[in-house]
Amino acid sequence: MSLAFTPFTLAGLQLRNRLVKPATFEGMCPGGMPSEALVEHHRRVAEGGAAMTTVAYASISPDGRSYPTQLLLRPDAVAGLRRLTTAVHREGAAASLQIGHCGYFADRRLVGGRPLGASRRFNAYGLSFARAMTEAQLERVIGDFAQGAHIAAEAGFDAVELHFGHGYLVSQFLSPYTNRRRDRWGGSLENRSRLAVEVLRAVRRVAPRLVVLAKVNLRDGFPGGLELAESMQVAQHLEAEGIAGLVLSAGFVSRTPLYMLRGEVPLGPMMAAQDRWWAKAGLFLFGRLFVKAYPFEEGFLLPEARYMRASVKLPLVLLGGIKSQVTIDQALGEGFELLGMGRALLHDPDLPRKLEAGAASRSGCTPCNECIAEMDRGGVRCTRR
Ligand SMILES: Cc1cc2nc3c(=O)[nH]c(=O)nc-3n(C[C@H](O)[C@H](O)[C@H](O)COP(=O)(O)O)c2cc1C
Repeated sequence: MSLAFTPFTLAGLQLRNRLVKPATFEGMCPGGMPSEALVEHHRRVAEGGAAMTTVAYASISPDGRSYPTQLLLRPDAVAGLRRLTTAVHREGAAASLQIGHCGYFADRRLVGGRPLGASRRFNAYGLSFARAMTEAQLERVIGDFAQGAHIAAEAGFDAVELHFGHGYLVSQFLSPYTNRRRDRWGGSLENRSRLAVEVLRAVRRVAPRLVVLAKVNLRDGFPGGLELAESMQVAQHLEAEGIAGLVLSAGFVSRTPLYMLRGEVPLGPMMAAQDRWWAKAGLFLFGRLFVKAYPFEEGFLLPEARYMRASVKLPLVLLGGIKSQVTIDQALGEGFELLGMGRALLHDPDLPRKLEAGAASRSGCTPCNECIAEMDRGGVRCTRR
């Protein structure tokens, strides 16, 4: 039997196997509230055999949103989220909640003003400038992360995943590209990591029962961004601070959005999903320039993740093109404790059960990446199921 179907204990949390569903933004929270569609989406993943499912991007505060259909963490969301965790637990899986703030990717129409960021910087993704955050704003955001974790615990989640990657707020502080500060939050890597460390400490203080993970970038994926040598030091620092595990990813939404996915660029469906004429026109005219394509390979983050594996002892979740039993076994053999399967489980949530039963050996995901346009068109789904 493959090691993939043996249990694993993650900081006291019993997982039935090694396959987890990473955050893939659902677009199923109109008005910031969890919908029944969101509950069913995750129940279905749990039914398919994954050990843990991750509810994607829940904003810790109103000014941390880049989409109107993102979950907004506030007390009146607890009841709906509790329905979700109950449904997932009933199927025998654990539930994790990804919490974050998107910093200067915030949608100005949603947040009503200039987005927060590490430094004043132009964001080509939202066509806006960031405001360099003040000490008071940083303290507030750290408190909001803690409050978000408290809500996750109230709602019955087993884990929270702090979003420290993909160019979102904490990643904007980590990255030398976006962080030009000269105070204690910028400059040296220790200073650029301060927000990540303070957030982790605050979350662990308020929610000692929760398993705390972080999603981190191995690399931002462009010259001048965070590179592997620094991200390994960040990981060591988080390990020393007691984080339970790291979910390894890569890419920066405003610069290298497909670096984290690889495969086809679904420009047509992305244009169709835009409600702003200028965004449609921009994608049409410049899409190929902004949205660079990267060839897809199974286990595409493995080369960088191997260096991370060698530099820390804590449990690591490897993701990025994990779509066959062969790649799963290879990664487990190289010491990655857990594997994240995003698009493969969007394509077929039953894949873990099928792999375990020997009824399948790989995912049928191509990857066309049309699922990313579907997030804006009523809810994430595979268009080629
Ligand atoms: C439709 C879609 C939405 C995503 N949304 C998020 C998100 O909200 N937060 C996040 O950290 N990663 C997000 N990701 C990235 C995935 O978590 C994962 O890192 C990526 O898909 C690579 O894994 P895969 O090859 O198994 O799909 C998203 C990916 C897809 C395809």
